[in-house]
Amino acid sequence: PRKLTTVKALSESPGLSSIPSIYTFLKQPYHEPVSDTEEPIPTIDFSLLTSSLPDERSKTIRELGKACRDWGFFMVYICFFFHRCYHGVPERMMKAIIEACREFLELPEEEKRGISGKHVLDPIRSGTSFNESVDEILCWRDYVKIFQHPEFHSPNKPPSFREIIRGISESLGLEKDYIYETLNPENGLQLIAANLYPPCPQPELAMGLPPHSDHGLLTLLIQNQIGGLQVQHKGKWVNIDPIPNSFLANIGDHIEILSNGKYKSVLHRAVVNNRDVRISIAVPHGPALDAIVSPDSKLVENVGNPPAYGAMKYKEYLEFQQGTMLNGKSFLECIR
Ligand code: SIN
Ligand code: FE2
Repeated sequence: PRKLTTVKALSESPGLSSIPSIYTFLKQPYHEPVSDTEEPIPTIDFSLLTSSLPDERSKTIRELGKACRDWGFFMVYICFFFHRCYHGVPERMMKAIIEACREFLELPEEEKRGISGKHVLDPIRSGTSFNESVDEILCWRDYVKIFQHPEFHSPNKPPSFREIIRGISESLGLEKDYIYETLNPENGLQLIAANLYPPCPQPELAMGLPPHSDHGLLTLLIQNQIGGLQVQHKGKWVNIDPIPNSFLANIGDHIEILSNGKYKSVLHRAVVNNRDVRISIAVPHGPALDAIVSPDSKLVENVGNPPAYGAMKYKEYLEFQQGTMLNGKSFLECIR
């Protein structure tokens, strides 16, 4: 039977020592082990990305390009200089956002009724699994996903999104505003996906989120100080630990397509633990729903590569992805 309750309520059932079989991911590749890496995830200093000193800025753009090629994931570090000293303002803000999401996700179930959308294009959805309509195994998490744009406000916010996209454009050798002009993220889809991963008595069997890559251009992610995100890097799974005053950014499938595979939308997964509640808030940013994305002719010619991906409307991509059983692969791999 399908889930009748939230994972949070299930995790709080008295004496729960094993998890129902619908939550067990038994087969590979879900639980491929994590490896230790000496290599730290690249960090981009946001103030240098927006620096008025051309050398500083171009050095940072080169680092950003390298991070997109080698990792597909990077930390963005933010610090504000105000009243003659540095302030971790965003950290306070991030904590407030995380607490607001926790409060919402911990509401009693009666109060969350009505937020039951399940389709990828429903403006408010909640549930537990990754691909509700096809998944046979459920994730150990409760989520709520809310469309924030085009309905709510301008996707020029947060400013970090726009600046990173401009930096990515430049690092690909394109004009600064090229991605903006061609893919029209001004009318793009911006979501907030808040995830709560309750403690789990059998974390080695459950999965917070199975391996997947993100749709869209760029996802920004903040989390409480409990780790759980793992990223595939050079064929191995590595832990990405939260870093104060920073958020994470990762390349989505549509930058991989646009760049003709130069930048990769990498597989990542969320594992759970048996002690602490983990909260993460992912903010995926996509092109406009009716934008048709294909490898950019400039990049295809520049590198002398034939296009490696077909053209597809973003909206159709989302619907197609929602109906596809991923089995631990990225959607781009599934349709290749
Ligand atoms: C996500 O991939 O959408 C979220 C991963 C996480 O919880 O860290
Ligand atoms: Fe993701």
